[in-house]
Amino acid sequence: MRRILLWAARNRWLREHLPRMRFVKRAVRRFMPGEELSDALVAAEAYRGDGIASTFTLLGENLTAIADADRVAAHYGDVLDEIAKRGLDGEISVKLTQLGLDLDPEATFAHVDALCHHAATTGTWVWVDMEGSAYTDATIDCYERAAREHRNVGLCVQAYLRRTPDDLRRLFPVTPSIRLVKGAYDEPPAIAWRGVRAVDAAFAAVSTMLIEAQAAGRAARVVLATHDTNLIAQELAIGAALGVPRERIEVTMLYGIRSGEQRRLAKEGVTTRGLIAYGDYWYPWYMRRLAERPANVVFALRSLLP
Ligand code: FDA
Repeated sequence: MRRILLWAARNRWLREHLPRMRFVKRAVRRFMPGEELSDALVAAEAYRGDGIASTFTLLGENLTAIADADRVAAHYGDVLDEIAKRGLDGEISVKLTQLGLDLDPEATFAHVDALCHHAATTGTWVWVDMEGSAYTDATIDCYERAAREHRNVGLCVQAYLRRTPDDLRRLFPVTPSIRLVKGAYDEPPAIAWRGVRAVDAAFAAVSTMLIEAQAAGRAARVVLATHDTNLIAQELAIGAALGVPRERIEVTMLYGIRSGEQRRLAKEGVTTRGLIAYGDYWYPWYMRRLAERPANVVFALRSLLP
């Protein structure tokens, strides 16, 4: 089921037709507050009421014209200003392919660099998402360069990639800020751990590596981006045993998933953030959410009912 859903995420015909169907539109509302930035801001205000910070991400991936990347970068600039204007604890998370990585890596770096400068003036952060394995090297190169220049930039890494511990060792000299995820793409076994147990074990090993690095001053921010509350509890306990203050091991979950757990963690003093996705290009992203938990397909089908 997971592989079929991930195939459907990449299929062009489905991408063009499914999002127009009303029941699909209805089902996606579970994971995103709406298509407009204003919808995301309303969700962030609600999060603030629960002591949860926000990360904003405009949905979209590979582009065909560099002018589109310029527009996306300009939009994120507006988001940073809007966050500041409202006094929100909000950060942004960008996909490099949406900033032109397929077309012009230098222009992509320039966008990241400019967004980091802008975010520094408003006192916030820029996160770089990790996409499919065809982009891992270019994404790490871009991040490493940005991290040499800016303190307020973080990178997402995927525990399911076998290479990730080596990538982190490469990045420790720039004292990286890292958001760790399990990984959302369909990667071959030659490069990725497959199966729940192997991926969970990899996530635990990499989180512990990061927490130890943080305790030793070789990593700045450490963010566990997972809905897996068992893994979170286990890693928070490891952090406590190493003397890392509780609020320094952060948790980020996606809007609409395990909302009760997000509130519970925030109440318990864990630095908790919700990633709010918005925009009209939601189809591949939504299919990856379904693939993470095929039970959600039942939920989507239920929205067929009046
Ligand atoms: P897992 O899938 O094992 O789920 C643990 C539990 O959480 C499940 O038992 C279920 O109850 C609940 N759950 C998980 N997903 C759910 C869903 N879709 N619907 C309902 N319940 C669900 N990936 C990537 O490759 N690059 C990236 O840049 C990012 N960025 C990112 C940021 C943030 C803040 C998060 C939380 C996640 C990402 N991801 C990502 C996605 C990540 O790789 C992964 O696919 C999802 O987080 C799902 O895996 P979990 O870690 O939650 O564990």
